[in-house]
Amino acid sequence: MATWTRDALQKLIASRMAGYKFIVVANREPFIHRYQGDRIEVLRPASGMVTALDPIMHASGGTWVAHGSGTADRDTVDANDRLQVPPDDPAYTLRRVWLTKRQEAGYYYGVANSGLWPLCHVTFTPPVFRPEDWQTYREVNRIYADAVLEEAGNDPSFVFIQDYHFCLLPRMLKEANSNLIIAHFWHIPWPNREVFRAFPYKEELLHGLLGNDLLGFHIRYHCQNFLDTVDRTIEARVDTDRFQVTRLGQTTTVQDFPISIDFKEHDEASRADAVTEAMDRWRRRLGRSARIVGVGIERLDYTKGIPQRLRAIDYLLQTRPEYRGRFVFLQVAAPSRSHIPEYQRLESEVEALVDEINFRWSESGWQPVLFLKEHHGQTDLMAIHRLAHFCIVSSLHDGMNLVAKEFVACRTDEDGVLILSQFTGSARELDDALQVNPFAIEEMASAMASAIEMPAEERQRRMRRMREHLARHNVFRWGGKVLSELLKFDFSESG
Ligand code: F6P
Repeated sequence: MATWTRDALQKLIASRMAGYKFIVVANREPFIHRYQGDRIEVLRPASGMVTALDPIMHASGGTWVAHGSGTADRDTVDANDRLQVPPDDPAYTLRRVWLTKRQEAGYYYGVANSGLWPLCHVTFTPPVFRPEDWQTYREVNRIYADAVLEEAGNDPSFVFIQDYHFCLLPRMLKEANSNLIIAHFWHIPWPNREVFRAFPYKEELLHGLLGNDLLGFHIRYHCQNFLDTVDRTIEARVDTDRFQVTRLGQTTTVQDFPISIDFKEHDEASRADAVTEAMDRWRRRLGRSARIVGVGIERLDYTKGIPQRLRAIDYLLQTRPEYRGRFVFLQVAAPSRSHIPEYQRLESEVEALVDEINFRWSESGWQPVLFLKEHHGQTDLMAIHRLAHFCIVSSLHDGMNLVAKEFVACRTDEDGVLILSQFTGSARELDDALQVNPFAIEEMASAMASAIEMPAEERQRRMRRMREHLARHNVFRWGGKVLSELLKFDFSESG
């Protein structure tokens, strides 16, 4: 199998997509401008989706349409709400869309993240559906449709939509301009039809999604769940052999495309001197008693299984006294969606648990858990990954989980153990991780002990195999496969 590279993707785009506009739609923007006093700073959001799309945007030089969410965003665009990014080395266009607080509350905090997010991640967090939010969700999808139609103009265009924020957008676009070639990637799981049944506006949502030419999920199981949901919910012809759905003359192909990372970039960047210096700083911060270090890095989200992992650490210290005074767990969590009550509850729960565990076990100069509710840049995140004896990803449910892949890509020393929830998409690829049921506290504690005790050769063997896999299954392969599939809808090509 030939390895996909940035170059190969660039060539595909240059040779096959020339003459087309390439428009990505995602709620989260890749660069956020924010005031710090009088100064404007640029922030990269904590989002696997943003990281994955970045190389494709560089290769295509297209336009990314997203919500302008930063306090200085309006002051950094031109008269058409556009700016060239990355700010220090422009390669593509960011088109910002403005939403009022009411629109943001109903569409982003409401339907997307209080409704669809818990519904699609089976984590036993009840979804909340408010009729007024659905009205706002429609309204905001229309705002994005107008922006995309304006960007496309009369030119032939590919539109690549991201995620559950835009279920109605594909149909709106197709109705307004049937020449647009539209793909949509669903970055989270699609649940089985029994679970999806609870969504009050399911017919309208599915009708919207079936405006796509191509609909992608991470794994085949989610494609099957989607077909099954459509089959039981609305009038449409579902072809389970070809994974296609036809409704009102429009056919949508449903396919799995496991997302990944820019392995080479991670590998190279993690070798930089700045990362080594950051590792020294973090070691000093963790203290001399941190002879064994475990880490967890993610957004502060209830799908990530942070309380479960903390309970496993508590159990580990209770049952394996030999680790007391020597083991430190560093939990880094970027604040996320904090206006939603469920996220506030999670934050209090995590803080209380950390406090309880540290109170129970700490002794002269040592405490077992360091919890940092902070956003960190790439250098620090890489340093943390590199100094860890193990990294734990204990998501209760996750479409893919790119942190697991980032950890592996940073370990150029071929050391470190990945403990990975079997309920992530990544678990299907990373067989050499220690796979766990994140709800099983004893099992997770025992995986931590195995990671700590694992002989060096075994650690290296496992890490090497995971790195070899990711070097080939990188984000360019994901992008190349999606775009190659999308090109099949370019009827001008087939003449
Ligand atoms: O991949 C799922 C996703 O919701 C992305 O759409 C998003 O950018 C990321 O997780 C982080 O969430 P948010 O953009 O809501 O901070």
